[in-house]
Amino acid sequence: MTQRRYLMCRPTYFAVDYRINPWMDPTAPYDTELAIAQWTRLRQVYRDLGHTVDEIEPVPGLPDMVFAANGATVLDGDVLAVQFRDPERADEAPAYRSWFERAGFRVHEAKHTNEGEGDLLLAGDVMLAGYGFRTVHAAHTQVQEVFGRPTVSLQLVDPAYYHLDTALCVLDAETVAYLPEAFSPGSRAVLRRLFPNAVLATPADAAVLGLNAVSDGEHVVLPVQATDLTAALEARGYTTVGVDMSELRKAGGGPKCCTLEVRP
Ligand code: ARG
Repeated sequence: MTQRRYLMCRPTYFAVDYRINPWMDPTAPYDTELAIAQWTRLRQVYRDLGHTVDEIEPVPGLPDMVFAANGATVLDGDVLAVQFRDPERADEAPAYRSWFERAGFRVHEAKHTNEGEGDLLLAGDVMLAGYGFRTVHAAHTQVQEVFGRPTVSLQLVDPAYYHLDTALCVLDAETVAYLPEAFSPGSRAVLRRLFPNAVLATPADAAVLGLNAVSDGEHVVLPVQATDLTAALEARGYTTVGVDMSELRKAGGGPKCCTLEVRP
């Protein structure tokens, strides 16, 4: 097992006061203290697994900044900065960019809308790149130029699964888990070809954001409510760790959304 390095952002200013995905209901109650408790537990799970967790300072007025996966994409010391679709999240981009600049990474300016690891997931040597809702297809060309990895475009078709990381989880270099229904027919065929041994998730797993999971190749941290997926992963020999992210799910996020992998 390789030790991982993650960047996280405490949900100090968490709120659901605008709606940019179908999970968000600005009229429904939310509990920032509970979100902080759930996030703190997730951070502890990573530390207990032996991973390193860095933290970026949360910014008042940016309630979605907790979703660090959207802050950048990082590989081989190169950072592709993000550009959000929605103005509500726009100011997160410079906050994450300057964190990486200060940490000494090579930062590349985004030429198109891309929401970081929300839509860009490395599977072995291939970059899986989602489009359809947030990251635009044109951004994938820049992704391939910056990282020099074959970049495979996958079209998302269900607005509930608006980021790739809500519909697909990379388990290790050879395997992913995904919800077939979240992808266009052509993209489904691509996934079948690339990952003949993939774990196919059920709609019930996806509906609790079960695919928004974080794997180190051996342990998979996923929403505790995703019971089918948990059983399927255990049957494949992965060790699962269930976490309750119910409060963050009100904003459309789970454990992976809260976690940006830093590959120095
Ligand atoms: N409310 C956030 C948004 O809609 C949630 C982001 C979840 N992040 C993710 N990587 N899927 O942008």
